[in-house]
Amino acid sequence: MNQLAIVLDFGGQYSHLIARNVRDCGVYCEVIPYTVPIETLLAKNPMAIILTGGPNSVYAEGEPTYAKELLDAKIPLLGISYGAKLIAQLAGGKVKAMPAGEIGNFEMSLSKTPVFEGLGGKVFCRISNEDFIAEMPSGFEVIGKTESCPHAAIMDAERKIYAFQGLPLEEQAEFSKTILQNFLIKIAGLKGDWAMAGYVEKTVAELREKIGDRRVLCALSGGVDSTVAAVMVHKAVGDKLSCIFVDHGLMRKDEGDMVMKMCREKFNMNVVRVNAQERFLEKLSGVTEPEEKRKIIGEEFIRVFEEEAKKIGSVDFFVQGTIYPDVIESGAGGSAVIKSHHNVGGLPDVIDFKEIIEPLRMLFKDEVRRAGLELGIDEEIVWRQPFPGPGLAIRIIGEITKEKLDIVREADAIFREEVKKGGYEGKINQYFAALTNMRSVGVKGDSRTYDYAVALRAVITNDFMTADFARIPYEILEKTSTRIVNEVPHVNRVLYDVTAKPPSTVELE
Ligand code: XMP
Repeated sequence: MNQLAIVLDFGGQYSHLIARNVRDCGVYCEVIPYTVPIETLLAKNPMAIILTGGPNSVYAEGEPTYAKELLDAKIPLLGISYGAKLIAQLAGGKVKAMPAGEIGNFEMSLSKTPVFEGLGGKVFCRISNEDFIAEMPSGFEVIGKTESCPHAAIMDAERKIYAFQGLPLEEQAEFSKTILQNFLIKIAGLKGDWAMAGYVEKTVAELREKIGDRRVLCALSGGVDSTVAAVMVHKAVGDKLSCIFVDHGLMRKDEGDMVMKMCREKFNMNVVRVNAQERFLEKLSGVTEPEEKRKIIGEEFIRVFEEEAKKIGSVDFFVQGTIYPDVIESGAGGSAVIKSHHNVGGLPDVIDFKEIIEPLRMLFKDEVRRAGLELGIDEEIVWRQPFPGPGLAIRIIGEITKEKLDIVREADAIFREEVKKGGYEGKINQYFAALTNMRSVGVKGDSRTYDYAVALRAVITNDFMTADFARIPYEILEKTSTRIVNEVPHVNRVLYDVTAKPPSTVELE
């Protein structure tokens, strides 16, 4: 068992990010909502607890709070933003509305104390609260102040309780990582024993023990999560695992072949590939509305999968590639989570199985990738950018035809190749080609053409909820454009999308 830290979530927008940063310090952590009773929390035996930010004022009626006993539970505590003010209030201090409102980046002067080891005497700190710790709780001392916030960082060294009103988690991640590292390792005494190699080994052994001689089924979508989940289960039980890969013909160039080749040749896995391209095209014929496309693809996927699963017969376990952010979002822990994913996937209703297995349930996306590498999955499969379930169907505006799919697939492959050659692959979060339903006049040789316009889209984003367009060098765009109009038939124009999300979205549909 790894040593545990808990991120007690008060609803702040950075709770996931804090948890990921904690894991980056080599400390296993779980995100638990503040509604969990203190007895349940302590029964987990955490060695440190981080109280997160939240959207509210701690002194207002009905706002999230926590049992005061937490302060005397002899567990090191670190409160950030809302969590800091809650600690101050629970400890007997006073939190009030800030007279001027301190929102933005401020210089904070730091005292010399172990939690700040490795930092200078002054750092910039993002503070985004309208409240501040106006009166100090007894037993605490000030270790950081800004011009208008005299108690910006406070501690009770004896009880190992720390409260920071602002902690830059995004803009100056190094600063926050240093503090987290100091708090977790130096102060709370955690060993930092969380590593992917250990996780993979332990999970494989647990899966082997649990599954034994029984049969397992996995729907391999070709994406990173389901591929890593399948390979992990295969490592545990080999031929007891059967995978079904529904090829709907809407994947990127060579993607399906690449995943199949790896599963079959490298890992010798038992995979049925269903070539359902024609079937999907037929169902999508004449459909132009994006949501309808999504619905048709989802339903058809289930139908094809069901037919194949019937051939395999009844199984004991069904593998899903659920990852930790899905778990946190659907309510953090508890059996209700399994149910919601049960339903979201839609699949479990149509096949006969006894239990779901989710080997990646506790991993963040970057940890899934590292687990994949640990399992020996090829780098180019593990590091692929996100790709939507409905695939190229939502990257073709309007009706989908085989000709349009070929155009967008080829154009996309060229764009990805040029971004990679230009060294921009790791600098952009998602990039692809889409096909507009616009045709326009061009000229080729001495002839007039009337052909399609391809749109290139590339975005920079942290969470895909908002995004900015990527400032890709013109040279890369120029090469991509030249190659697309020369190599892809029926395209005479290439456009680059320079809108942010909002008001646009990442995908064109
Ligand atoms: P949007 O277009 O909503 O995209 O700004 C945000 C992120 O979500 C992905 N996306 C989807 N993923 N099924 C998926 O599995 C979908 O229907 C879908 N629509 C958008 C998109 O690729 C981007 O990463």
